[in-house]
Amino acid sequence: MAAPQTQTPPAKQEQSGSLPPLTRRELLNYIWLGSLGVFLAEMGGIGLIFAFPRFREGEFGGKFTLGAVQEVFPEPDGDPIPLNEGKFWLVRTEENQILAVYRVCTHLGCLFNWQPSEHRFICPCHGSQFELDGTYITGPAPRSADRFVIELVDPASGQVVAQTDKFGNPLGCTR
Ligand code: FES
Repeated sequence: MAAPQTQTPPAKQEQSGSLPPLTRRELLNYIWLGSLGVFLAEMGGIGLIFAFPRFREGEFGGKFTLGAVQEVFPEPDGDPIPLNEGKFWLVRTEENQILAVYRVCTHLGCLFNWQPSEHRFICPCHGSQFELDGTYITGPAPRSADRFVIELVDPASGQVVAQTDKFGNPLGCTR
């Protein structure tokens, strides 16, 4: 008499060596966790972009003819004059020096404004403050404002040119 043959049930054969099928709840959990991961990665990347200053020293360039000294320089004790073409403020300091202070905030690049009542520049974005000559006072900006070199190119007509430079040297003014 032949021995009886044993056979594994078909359902057990299919399951051995493979993962159990995902339930609907597990699938939704994986999708939700994946979406959360993508969202957090995007937020982290955006945060990193905003955490670093947009401009470093001397990263901008340009040469701007301002016009005659008598027409463009601020009066003694006068408010700074904005020159929009070059994005800078023309400033006369208490020491009677003329400076071109770059209007772009060294934090994240907003254009800061002169506040006559406070006698300082204040950035509207995050509140960084700078003195009349661009020196850093307070706020998230990492350093003082940049300054342009100012050059008197034609003393006869008083034509003045402002040009970017890493340090920006003031021009003594005798007017
Ligand atoms: Fe942030 Fe000016 S851009 S303080």
